[in-house]
Parts: sequence; structure tokens; C-alpha cells
Amino acid sequence: MRDWPSTIDAEQWEALARTHGTPFYAYDASVLHARCSDVSRAFSQAEVRYAMKANACPAVLDAIREEGFGIDAVSPWEARYALSRGFDRESVLYTGNFPSDDELREVAALGLVANLDALSALDRYGVIAKGARVAIRVDLEEGAGHHPHVVTAGDESKFGLTLDALDEALQIIERRGLRLVGLHQHIGSGLSTDEHRAVWLRAAMGLFDVTQRVEARVGPLSFVDVGGGFGVGYRDDERTVELASWGDELERALVERWPDASRRPALWIEPGRYLVAECGVLVARVSTVKRARDRVWVGTDAGMHSLVRPAMYGSYHPVTAARVREGARERCFIVGPICESGDVLAEERSMVVPREGDVLIVGVAGAYGYAMASTYNLRARPAELFYDRGEWRVARPRETYERVTGEAT
Ligand code: LLP
Repeated sequence: MRDWPSTIDAEQWEALARTHGTPFYAYDASVLHARCSDVSRAFSQAEVRYAMKANACPAVLDAIREEGFGIDAVSPWEARYALSRGFDRESVLYTGNFPSDDELREVAALGLVANLDALSALDRYGVIAKGARVAIRVDLEEGAGHHPHVVTAGDESKFGLTLDALDEALQIIERRGLRLVGLHQHIGSGLSTDEHRAVWLRAAMGLFDVTQRVEARVGPLSFVDVGGGFGVGYRDDERTVELASWGDELERALVERWPDASRRPALWIEPGRYLVAECGVLVARVSTVKRARDRVWVGTDAGMHSLVRPAMYGSYHPVTAARVREGARERCFIVGPICESGDVLAEERSMVVPREGDVLIVGVAGAYGYAMASTYNLRARPAELFYDRGEWRVARPRETYERVTGEAT
């Protein structure tokens, strides 16, 4: 899939940059659909709940809905937006994180299954939404991720109900007349090594065990959700994970534990990054090139406000020039216009120094790119363009001065 974005030539990128201004995100529908097919093939028995936090561009959501996938929503507005884009209520799971009563009320009004991980939240939800359906997110002490900030289980994690509290959670559910319909876990994000795969599978097996224990007490559950986390390759020598081997082992274990298909809970998975990372690029224009000491600073109009992952996690994203120039390679630091020294897109890249006005393409930016963009320094979030069957369209326009400032026109 590394063909994209090189299937679009320099003239086309430059024309898009002239027409729409920079920076902008561009997504390719065919790469997105190819990744969806990978997941469906690898997990042939699972229902997919796309983690829309990774990318909630309307065109991306529409493409995901066309695949027949559902949604993992982590806020009432994510849930509301999914419903407004046509996802059906039964295919949207709300996973709460330290929810307030107001948040729980909003979720109850939407009629979704609420997946909660604190005794207090279950208790409060029971008062707010009598008889409603809930799931429990557990923490089985198995966590992993590409950076400590994205490990979502284990000692340092704020997520999940630890097993010592499970008994009390079941009592609260019973006392409040809630209906337990599923168990859930998500152990972390950016899982790419064999070790990560082993931890993920161990955690999933652990969740199957807990599900069987809970079913012995309360009767059959409708689903068991093993979360997402599958990694993709960001560097040329990194490979996107081979999902088939994850799916085979998981689904074999599921069938072994529940040989009677009619009593087997539905298997749910929640990939975010895997589906959308590779279909997206961030396109920026070089604004200022500056040489100082032994460094070449290549300043662009995109920065940490457009793509925060390099600044926040030290993440690597490939950067290429739309028009490759002749010349010697130098050590370039690609930075943005934000008033912080951490405003970096790429460090120490050996490349022919681009000229001011050149268009640069930051790759593998479809996941947690626009989704984490901000208006820091009162700069607009970029436009989002969607490329489908040879046609480009603006899926979401660049923010305006009025939107960024809240000032009336
Ligand atoms: N399910 C739940 C409950 C989650 O919290 C997440 C991600 C996912 C599914 C999807 O995980 P994925 O398949 O995308 O790895 N901003 C970070 C990633 C944070 C992930 C948070 N939770 C980054 O840019 O690397």
C-alpha cells in the first residue's frame, strides 16, 4: 500500500495545494477499503466496531459504514455523530471514561449499551437509566503499546475494572436492575511486535475465561469485545502487522470455549489505527528554510497543531517532497510555525533540502492526525480531502477565523 500517495503525481499535489490551500489531510478510499477487507478476512467471525477516535472525518465514517462495521464511541458526541451519519444504534458501543452524570444522561437518552469500568459509574448509571444495558470493561493486568501514554491496562492505567471489584460490580448491576450484556477490554495501541501480539492474545484468552465465569453466574452474554490496538508500519522497514495470525488463534480459542455456536457470545473487535492510518497523508507547504549552526530547519505551514504525534510521543512519520529535487542530501529538521521548540514533524531526515514553496507529504497520518489537531496559537485545523474513484472532494473544509476564535461574523 506504499503506492499511495505516490500514485498522485507532483503536478496533482501542487494543483490541490493551490486550489485548497495548505496544510490539508488527504485520504484515499481504496486504501481504506483494502484495510477494512484485511480485518474482515483475518477476523472472519468478529463484528468490527471501528474506534472512531482515530479519525472521525465524515467521508471516512461513511466508507466504514458501507463496510458494515459498527462504532466504538468514547464520548456522547462521538456516539451522537455516529448515529447522525447513519450507524444503527445496535452497532454503536459507548465506552465511558470517568463519565459525569450529565454524560451518562446523554448516553442513556441515545439508548446505547454503556460500557463502564468503575463501580461508581455503574451505580450512578443504574439510577439514571433503570433497566438499561451495560457492559463491563475489565483490566486483566496485561497492557502494551507503542508509548507509555497509550498502554491502557495494568498498574499505571486509569482504565478498566480490576477483577477484585468484579463481584461488587455484578451486585450493583443486579441491585440497580441493569442488564449486563457484554464484557470488554482494550489493552493499548500501536501493537506491532511478536511480544505485543503474545500479550494481546493472552489478554483476550483471559477475557474469555472471565466471560465464562460471569456467564456461569448471570447467564449467557451477547458479546465479548477484545478491543483494538493493531499496529501499522510507519518506517520503511516496519511492517504493518499480519492480522491473520492474530485472528486465527483468537477465533480457534473462541470456538473451543463455546463449542455450541448458539450459546457463543458475539466476538467484537475495535480497531482504529489499522483501518485508517495508511489511507491518510498530511500535505504541507514549505514556508521558510533556515540554516543555523549545523542544522537545516525546514519550516512548513503544518506543525504540532496539525499533527501532534511526533511532538507528543516522538512518533515517526515519513516525509517526502511531492517534487523530488536533484542535489546532495542534508540532515533536515522539519518543523512547524507554533511557538514551542517541541513543534517538530520530523527530526534528522536525510533529504535534498526542499525550497520554499515546495509541497511536502507527511505519510501514514490518517490515524490520530486530524483527530488530535488543535487550534493552538489560533491556527486553523486543516481541510480534509477525500479521493474516491478518481475524484477529489472536500470532506471537511479548513476552519475559519470565526470558528477558531468563536467571534461572530
Ligand atoms: N478501543 C478503545 C476503548 C480505545 O481506547 C482505543 C484507543 C481503541 C479501541 C483503538 O485503538 P487502535 O486500534 O487505534 O490502536 N493517540 C494515540 C493512540 C491512542 C489510542 C487510544 N485508544 C496515537 O496517536 O498513537
